[in-house]
Amino acid sequence: MATFLAGLTHDACDLWDSGEVAGNPLDLVYQGRILEPTEAAFWRVRLRAGEEWGPWSEPSFWEAGLLSNPRWHAKWIAASDPGDWTQARPVTLLRHRFEIPPNPVSRARLSFSAHGLILPMLNGHAATDIRFAPGWTDYGKRIQYDVEDVGALLHPGANVLGAYLADGWACGQVCWFGRNHYHMFPAGLLRLSLEFQDREPMLITSGPEWTWAHSGIRHSDLMQGERFVAGIEDPDWLDPDFADEHWQRVRAMSLGQTPLVARVGPPVRVHERLEPVDVQLKDPSRMIVDFGQNHAGIVELAIPPGAGKLQVRHAEILTPEGELYTENLRSAKAADAFEGDASAVWSPSFTFHGYRYAEISGYAPGQVPHEIYSCVLHSDMERTGWFECSDARLNRLFENVVWSTKSNFLEVPTDCPQRDERLGWLGDAQVFAPTASYLFDVAAFMTKWMDDVRDGVSADGIFPNVAPQIHELVEGAPGWADAGVIVPWTMFRFFGDRGGLEAAFPSMERYVGTVLRENPDFIWRHRRSHDFGDWLNVDDETDKALLASAFLIKDLDILARTAAHLDDPSMEGWQSKAEAAREAFLAEFSDGGMLRSDTQTAYALAISFGIGHRERWGERLNELVSQRGGLSTGFLGVAHLLPALDRVGKLDAIHLLLQNDAYPSWLYSVKHGATTTWERWDGWTEEKGFQDPGMNSFNHYAFGSVGEYLMGGVAGIRVLEGPLNLMLKPNPFVGLTYAKARWDSRRGTIRSEWTYESGVFDWTFETPYGIDLSIELPATPPGTSWTLESPNAWESGEPWKTSGGRQRLTTRLT
Ligand code: BGC
Repeated sequence: MATFLAGLTHDACDLWDSGEVAGNPLDLVYQGRILEPTEAAFWRVRLRAGEEWGPWSEPSFWEAGLLSNPRWHAKWIAASDPGDWTQARPVTLLRHRFEIPPNPVSRARLSFSAHGLILPMLNGHAATDIRFAPGWTDYGKRIQYDVEDVGALLHPGANVLGAYLADGWACGQVCWFGRNHYHMFPAGLLRLSLEFQDREPMLITSGPEWTWAHSGIRHSDLMQGERFVAGIEDPDWLDPDFADEHWQRVRAMSLGQTPLVARVGPPVRVHERLEPVDVQLKDPSRMIVDFGQNHAGIVELAIPPGAGKLQVRHAEILTPEGELYTENLRSAKAADAFEGDASAVWSPSFTFHGYRYAEISGYAPGQVPHEIYSCVLHSDMERTGWFECSDARLNRLFENVVWSTKSNFLEVPTDCPQRDERLGWLGDAQVFAPTASYLFDVAAFMTKWMDDVRDGVSADGIFPNVAPQIHELVEGAPGWADAGVIVPWTMFRFFGDRGGLEAAFPSMERYVGTVLRENPDFIWRHRRSHDFGDWLNVDDETDKALLASAFLIKDLDILARTAAHLDDPSMEGWQSKAEAAREAFLAEFSDGGMLRSDTQTAYALAISFGIGHRERWGERLNELVSQRGGLSTGFLGVAHLLPALDRVGKLDAIHLLLQNDAYPSWLYSVKHGATTTWERWDGWTEEKGFQDPGMNSFNHYAFGSVGEYLMGGVAGIRVLEGPLNLMLKPNPFVGLTYAKARWDSRRGTIRSEWTYESGVFDWTFETPYGIDLSIELPATPPGTSWTLESPNAWESGEPWKTSGGRQRLTTRLT
């Protein structure tokens, strides 16, 4: 039971009083009046358990955004001479001096955005710790802005508002498509709104009276890197007394029609600073630093006076000779540079790289940079999932999955953080979304990205391959475009995000409607774009029409379930289409009771998507795994392989696949020292060395989708098909003596911990109060069963239900 109050002030409730509401307070949606632009609202909540009311929560607040472009009263401003657009060019400084009266400021909000990247500065201080503002969207369709409370940085009298303005995604290189994908030159937008206790409010906005100059950052590009030259930038340009006569007037442009939207997802910040685990001095002017961990970030250095020029290059891996291996970065130089004679602590501002190793070179002999750190960058998401077991290799695998998530959840879910690609590939995100949802609270991140996905649909509703959509790339392929249906459903399953599902539903229907129009017999033959199939499978190509048609069935099921949850009348229609599609699938793709495409992926998908003869498919999948002695799945099959084997009780095959460390397997890369998950099963092998450098990332998360099974299958915290519909059911038959996991779900913390030794399974689990959750004993190998030692409550044979608390049970295999 909960009551929610919303008011305009801390103590008066004049906006909305929910009254007493049964259920989870997280499901309460504000139903008061719509706020005015920039209006602030306070809220608090209190809970009742039984007869007892808890205390009111501390008041919290939210503020409405500007809500429409004209409210900005600001202009885009840019360097009047933006330089050669074909080349990376100096970062622009923007400057404006203004006076504020002595009256106390009651509210100060700085809103800022850019065609490019912006770092606003106020009176000598960075006005934000957000990196890469305003983030990446399809800038022709939507541009985000950020807002900071800057009251503490202001003072009565003369102040200076300024900004650094860099190329970023809007004007710099994106993927391998060169520069200027969205705009020819960067422009900034700033709006400082000040409210006073006893005076009219003031608005300071970007406009023609602002001035500009070049900064000391001579170029900056997300792929190529950044070069800083000390001594170029006027050191006191943010001082009100600085005489800026030699600066030029900016070019000011009208705001235009492209909607400016308040940031939806979490911004990128520096999260941790890694210290080197090893430093190799190669010669008096060159060293290679090992940070011990592949990641996305930037290097920070203390540079001694007189070091002169130095360069920092980055790589994920070393050659056998101990030098940086950079061929796999393709055209991304990923090189930063510093020039200057005074001592400085330096790190680049508007670029990032994917690396474990950095080579620092070029400094004057003896003037060795010190205090070397790597600043880890990713979108600011809360960690929510942990796993540990008795096998150090699986623990490392799990860590690798966590690090590949961090490295690739940077503004959009990218394929990789290092080479000249870094795109929001939908297929990768679709298979990895459940794992990511255990590890981090990715709900807001994905809500923003789903806007990108919908911004990229074709005229008749086909979702793109990548989002933000890159226009050189064709429309989405099966298994990729389907992320537009699968990801909102996954967010609903893991976070109970009904709003996201509602927002997605029309585009989901439109997409599937178009696919069905082109393929009325439910066999997806037409409009498959550039079909990638089961990408990067191991010589085990699945029929692409089968794969596509299986995903179509998955989509139809999701539509039917979504319609049911949203009380939409289309539910039955989608359901009957799903049934018809199943029949058509079996008629087309099975023969003599087996699938024509005799691959692990085909059977894993058929089992996972509930198509056809589960038991028979299970037998064949089991055979295929044991014949190979391992896996052969690519991107589309990999996430379903262990869950499918689990569904059909093939515990030996799961055991084999999780324990295998020969190529191809999850542990193969771990055995060879990986600290993130690789793009390919054979990124490097003893026999062949490095794979084709044209496509060989050591930090891709798709194969890391096994994280879902470690959390859900092995440790036993399973998220079923409904919204936060959970079941506890571990699998101890994977060669482990213990495993434990914790998931900080939206409903509270869930823990599952077990030991399994000499046939005794000892299981402790903890679940939050107020959620219904079913508990099942682990499946047992053929011919065995559990004898319950304690407690006896299970003897009824019914699945257990718990409504919260910590419980323990012991059972013996007989
Ligand atoms: C990307 C993938 C992506 C694929 C499409 C690659 O270049 O790195 O992760 O899904 O293309 O097949």
